[in-house]
Amino acid sequence: MNTTNFKELEDQSAEQILAWTVKEFGPRAGIASSFGMEDMVLIDMVSKLDGNNLTIFTLDTGRLHEETYEIMEKVRTRYGMTIKTFFPVREAVEALLRDKGFFSFRESVDNRKECCYIRKVEPLKRALAQLDAWVTGLRRDQNVTRTNVAKVGNDADHDNLIKINPLADWTQEQVEGYIEKHSVPVNSLHKKNYPSIGCAPCTRSINPGEDIRAGRWWWENPEHKECGLHR
Ligand code: ADX
Ligand code: SF4
Repeated sequence: MNTTNFKELEDQSAEQILAWTVKEFGPRAGIASSFGMEDMVLIDMVSKLDGNNLTIFTLDTGRLHEETYEIMEKVRTRYGMTIKTFFPVREAVEALLRDKGFFSFRESVDNRKECCYIRKVEPLKRALAQLDAWVTGLRRDQNVTRTNVAKVGNDADHDNLIKINPLADWTQEQVEGYIEKHSVPVNSLHKKNYPSIGCAPCTRSINPGEDIRAGRWWWENPEHKECGLHR
């Protein structure tokens, strides 16, 4: 697969890109899912594709909301999909809690990134080691850090694995419109003003007029608001 082909994929719809992913990679492509709205759109779309056999995986940080486990269970039962769950390395979490306490991520950006590394970034590396391509729900208008997201490209941070972002050019309204039209189940926290959901201690609801990611690591500046999964 070369870069020219990737450029051609820029004009394709999300469904077309997912169909291409199934054909090109099958189970060697994994949908990285935190079961947020975008991920639920992707899951619903692939469930309707002939021959869909993509892997679905999630990084369970150990600090997720109860509501997130509820939507995961709904995906298992409603779509009959197997979810591969990756946990952090036990010894690393034990050492972090012993040495820095239970809320070290509030103390500095470095401490926050350390926790995200242990609980998300390292488990992602293990998840990707089993794959040739990964699919995410990234969108360009989510944050200043995401304006250049390509629909398909090589992921320089992960051994040049193919990274596929079928919703890169979608707006929040398009995501909500798809969910409404196709009666896609969603995390119940969305109805409580949580448009973007990560770990429980690092996510709050937003106020009217606030940016959709304002509730993520709300004590930090927008340019720091990445956990290291995507750069
Ligand atoms: S984050 O980096 O700020 O946490 P965000 O919540 O916007 O990311 O999600 C962007 C995409 O990253 C999701 O659509 C999903 O593909 C992937 N992702 C985020 N968190 C997880 C997770 N815990 N497990 C698997 N994939 C995830
Ligand atoms: Fe740790 Fe918060 Fe990052 Fe979750 S989002 S891994 S709790 S710093």
